[in-house]
Amino acid sequence: MIDTLNIQVNKILSSKISQTNFNDLPFGKVFSDHMFMADYQEGEWKNLQIMPYAEISINPAASALQYGQAIFEGIKAFRHANGKISIFRPFKNFERFNISAERMVMPAVPEELFIQGMSQLINLDKDWVPSIEGQSLYIRPFMFATEPVLGVHASETYKFIILTGPTAAYYPKPLKVKIELNYARSVEGGIGYAKTAGNYGGSLYPTKLAQKEGFDQLIWTDSKSHTFIEESGTTNIMFVINDVLITPSTRDTILDGVTRNSILELARAWGMPVEERRVTVLEIVNAIKNKTLQDAFGAGTAATVAHIAQIGHEGELYTLPDPTGRKFSNKVAKALSDIRYGIADDKFGWNYLV
Ligand code: COI
Repeated sequence: MIDTLNIQVNKILSSKISQTNFNDLPFGKVFSDHMFMADYQEGEWKNLQIMPYAEISINPAASALQYGQAIFEGIKAFRHANGKISIFRPFKNFERFNISAERMVMPAVPEELFIQGMSQLINLDKDWVPSIEGQSLYIRPFMFATEPVLGVHASETYKFIILTGPTAAYYPKPLKVKIELNYARSVEGGIGYAKTAGNYGGSLYPTKLAQKEGFDQLIWTDSKSHTFIEESGTTNIMFVINDVLITPSTRDTILDGVTRNSILELARAWGMPVEERRVTVLEIVNAIKNKTLQDAFGAGTAATVAHIAQIGHEGELYTLPDPTGRKFSNKVAKALSDIRYGIADDKFGWNYLV
């Protein structure tokens, strides 16, 4: 534990913000002026600092580069009309970060380091939090193993870094997704529930094959039978069938998403029937065919609510109801957005003001 956070601050000489075009923000390519960094050495977190966003040097033998001990989170901060800035549910991401850390045999990051490091960084770079509707500040906390050793064991040393950058929509349009029936994102007993780098690296090849066929993303199915739906490319997945919100229940192969959780809480508060359970490919395809499927969307921090326009399954391409007319996903996307931007009452206490 760290009692008092002593963060050393080294500011940039001149801000890059005037060279940044806030009307063109490709996801993850624009970074704010500063970053937060801490080192784990001899069993403690040390060298807490906010410094200019820049390249850092690491040992080429660093074990993260060899064996993939690397985890991350995705969080967003929003600017309200009154100028206040809030971070959306950072404690949820903090909890998940340490769940990922445990699975990857990495040290826990103390809450104050995660939350205060992030808050101080955002305060310093507050001009980078966009004021344009639909935009936000994306926050990327991550940790990786730095010990220079080629033996396969958990590293003794780590770096924890927080980057931020202004961002707009992750997916510019409704998605055309393919139900993946050969490759798997994760396996039972594996690391699917951890937000670890390798899960994303491993998804690239099957996604690239689907993109060659004209799809944007995949819907992953279970590795054993490929009959159960798990999640979508960079998001959890949700459906509305006969006015019931249905989503795969979380398990060790599925990421326990913060946006997923928030949508379920909103739906329950509205009295909508919600089913968190195993969802079969067959029932979704049948619901599309018999026109009882009203809605299908991805739910994630970066993607927020990402409409699914078309689903490919075994060579057939199914077109879903027009996204603009969908009741639930549009209502919940607006409700989430209104809470985040301080337009609606934050009844659930989700906004953490910085
Ligand atoms: C997020 O939604 O924040 C993610 O981490 C997904 C992706 C951009 C990797």
